[in-house]
Amino acid sequence: MTDTILEVTDIYRIFPPSTVPALDGVSFSVQRGECLVISGANGSGKSVLMHLIANLDRCDRGSITIARDAQGREETVGLVFQDAQAQILGDTVLEDVLFGPENRGKNAQEAEEIARTCICRVGLAGKEQLPARSLSGGEKRRLAVAGILAIDPSIIIFDEPYANLDWDGVVGINRVIRDLKKEGRTILILTHELEKVLALAHRLIVLVSGKIVYNGAPDTALSEAPLKSWGIRSPIGSYRQASDLLWMDET
Ligand SMILES: Nc1ncnc2c1ncn2[C@@H]1O[C@H](COP(=O)(O)OP(=O)(O)OP(=O)(O)O)[C@@H](O)[C@H]1O
Ligand SMILES: [Mg+2]
Repeated sequence: MTDTILEVTDIYRIFPPSTVPALDGVSFSVQRGECLVISGANGSGKSVLMHLIANLDRCDRGSITIARDAQGREETVGLVFQDAQAQILGDTVLEDVLFGPENRGKNAQEAEEIARTCICRVGLAGKEQLPARSLSGGEKRRLAVAGILAIDPSIIIFDEPYANLDWDGVVGINRVIRDLKKEGRTILILTHELEKVLALAHRLIVLVSGKIVYNGAPDTALSEAPLKSWGIRSPIGSYRQASDLLWMDET
């Protein structure tokens, strides 16, 4: 039996004066508890699609349906922005993360408990009173994740979660994602850095120029799909020496 939490049907989005749509006929569904990686080159439409799902933008055609919970309320969607700076609302780290639980009607004590737990979860414990805008790029990204965790959404979207993160930061985010998966949360991860996360994904979707070109098993994509022609580097390969370590076109 399927338990669809999100249904995207034939989405079309164009930004005039551009005559090329950012999204063109995109359809897919997501099951409750699924962990999906959505990949694609720069400009392929990943962030536009997620802004639509998070209800921050409207599509020109098509529809997005989000399931309802047992109380009949539409399931909540939390989006960790690609631009972490844009997500900062509070003066201090703690105030920033408090916004979510306070807006959800938690009392001051509950809200602070939730905020402190989420700050700890992303490895920012001890920085609660620092000015949020003074954090490093990677720390701001962790803060953005904490802010979304504190809202406790059913569907969590991570838009390029690894940008600016060091090894420890990537591992930290992946631990959070792994734990959210265990809790049965629905997770969408937008990235072209497949090597950092694909093992956590139940399914991979690839966008090229606003259209879905792949929607299926991660393993099949790696063995059979023309990832390179879609602007995605296949992570399968071997590094043996320094001269192998170069991100450069072969031509
Ligand atoms: N508000 C906007 N106004 C005009 N064009 C836009 C707007 N938002 C997105 N676009 C265009 O839509 C296309 C898809 O952009 P989008 O941000 O979804 O790409 P992306 O796949 O997330 O890329 P990246 O990997 O660089 O984050 C791009 O060509 C972009 O210029
Ligand atoms: Mg993007």
